[in-house]
Amino acid sequence: MLCQLRTFDDPNLLSAAIPFADAGIYRLSDELALVQSVDFFTPVVDDPADYGRIAAANALSDIYAIGGKPLTTMNLVAFPAGREAELVLMLNGGAEKVAEAGATMVGGHTIEDAEPKYGLSVTGLVDPRKMVSTVGARPGDRLVLTKPLGTGILATALKGGVLTTEELAPAIAGMIRLNRLASEAMLEVGVSACTDITGFGLLGHAAELAEASQVCLQLDLGALPLYPQVREMAACGLIPKGSYKNREFYLPKLVDGDKLPAEALDLLADPQTSGGLLIALAAEKVAALLSKLQAAGEQGWVIGEVAAAPAGRLTIFQG
Ligand code: CO
Repeated sequence: MLCQLRTFDDPNLLSAAIPFADAGIYRLSDELALVQSVDFFTPVVDDPADYGRIAAANALSDIYAIGGKPLTTMNLVAFPAGREAELVLMLNGGAEKVAEAGATMVGGHTIEDAEPKYGLSVTGLVDPRKMVSTVGARPGDRLVLTKPLGTGILATALKGGVLTTEELAPAIAGMIRLNRLASEAMLEVGVSACTDITGFGLLGHAAELAEASQVCLQLDLGALPLYPQVREMAACGLIPKGSYKNREFYLPKLVDGDKLPAEALDLLADPQTSGGLLIALAAEKVAALLSKLQAAGEQGWVIGEVAAAPAGRLTIFQG
């Protein structure tokens, strides 16, 4: 359907040449490009301030995935009438993350709606010579993920009343965390490719990176980091709807995907909110990246490697 939309062939639109680019990238000069992204969604947690923080961290993430710096943001808000106190808490939560990102909130737009929706449009800058994208992963590269998986399953358990907000604390803290420090670490080390893990899950975003770079991503099932309780909740059948959509769309990209146990697919296809960066980098740089992440108070897990073939596909192994 989307391929029926009109496209623009402006030579300065650098992101047009990048399959599945995380943000729009528009060249202003040889050294400077604008990066633009927008994202918003319905509440994933009950606390309005945390919802605001998570939505903002999530919206800022696409700028970090390409190695950019956010400059300005605008609020996108749909909110029920008569709940102004919550609205203020949510917006202040979002503003807190924008300030932490070193960006400036310049405005926004609010409409009345029965179900809250919140997010940001983000404008940032990147040096096009140094930007990172879905293109560039090379055979032999290792894959590093910077946040655990499972936020879709946990949010479903919270909505179903199976888990409490307290039990979700590690995942909430993870979703609130900016990908800023991870992005800075990857720029310092120098990496081959990167994308952030959001709604399409590890399965979808890894498949996109494989296709964009024309390589095969080999994911180590035993190495996938998970938030606490994710396995238990998945075993109880608390799987979000988006997980099944992701399978339908991306399972053909996975070699022998139909032979994989359902428990593995529950984790791979789980849609993430404000997920981490998936970074492909040369094997000899892994130690440097992991130590920089650790020094910055971040984490990183080696979750697989890159092979030449089959290009554009994923394979799963148990390390
Ligand atoms: Co993204």
